[in-house]
Amino acid sequence: MSNTPIASDDFHFYEPAKGHGLAHDPFKAIVGPRPIGWISSRDAQGRVNLAPYSFFNAFFDKPPIIAFGSAGWKNRTSNKDSVSNIEATGEFVANLVTKPLAEAMNKTAATVPHEVDEFTLAGLTPAPCRQVKVPRVAESPTALECRLLQVLQLQDLDGNRLDGWMIIGQVVGVHINRAYISNGLFDAAAARPIMRSGYMADYFEATPETMFRMNRPG
Ligand SMILES: Cc1cc2nc3c(=O)[nH]c(=O)nc-3n(C[C@H](O)[C@H](O)[C@H](O)COP(=O)(O)O)c2cc1C
Repeated sequence: MSNTPIASDDFHFYEPAKGHGLAHDPFKAIVGPRPIGWISSRDAQGRVNLAPYSFFNAFFDKPPIIAFGSAGWKNRTSNKDSVSNIEATGEFVANLVTKPLAEAMNKTAATVPHEVDEFTLAGLTPAPCRQVKVPRVAESPTALECRLLQVLQLQDLDGNRLDGWMIIGQVVGVHINRAYISNGLFDAAAARPIMRSGYMADYFEATPETMFRMNRPG
């Protein structure tokens, strides 16, 4: 690292409430690249849904707990089937999105009527799960079967309830395609997961070349 002092002038600063002052909002480019939860769910009548969510991550590991964020559900005109399905049935699956599956994943983000099954739309194969009645994406190297813990409505600093929802689930079943297990380890780099970056069309891909190792201090 350079010893040159860092002047505060070197930084663009903004308060989000007052606008970012750049060509596009950089927020999602800063909080990124983000993993993508490719969420399959099912409504009370058994109709299946699949959609990508990049406000997605793991938050605990014993037991494993994951969550995704839905921008819009109840108050907006945009109808989010994933959240309503999961609230109705208490189950969902988070499938891994990889480079070979990128185009298919993108197709499942289309705004389509509730009755449209995005598995069919994107030419994907639904495979049965073991602990939940939701299908997983057979082509995806991993799938996390989840039971719903909480649907949390987000609030801002003024206490306004937002049309923003955090869906938190406990992982109750894990599928890993054996082709990606070597020496007892899941070879994440070989799976080539993709991540969402900030702007409309931007993604990153994790590859064996971009992986590096660093041990924690003792
Ligand atoms: C890569 C990617 C990531 C996305 N992440 C989110 C997200 O985190 N939250 C969200 O509300 N919508 C997100 N979307 C948009 C939803 O996938 C889209 O609105 C979809 O139609 C929702 O489907 P559903 O109504 O079946 O749940 C994302 C789209 C793409 C392509």
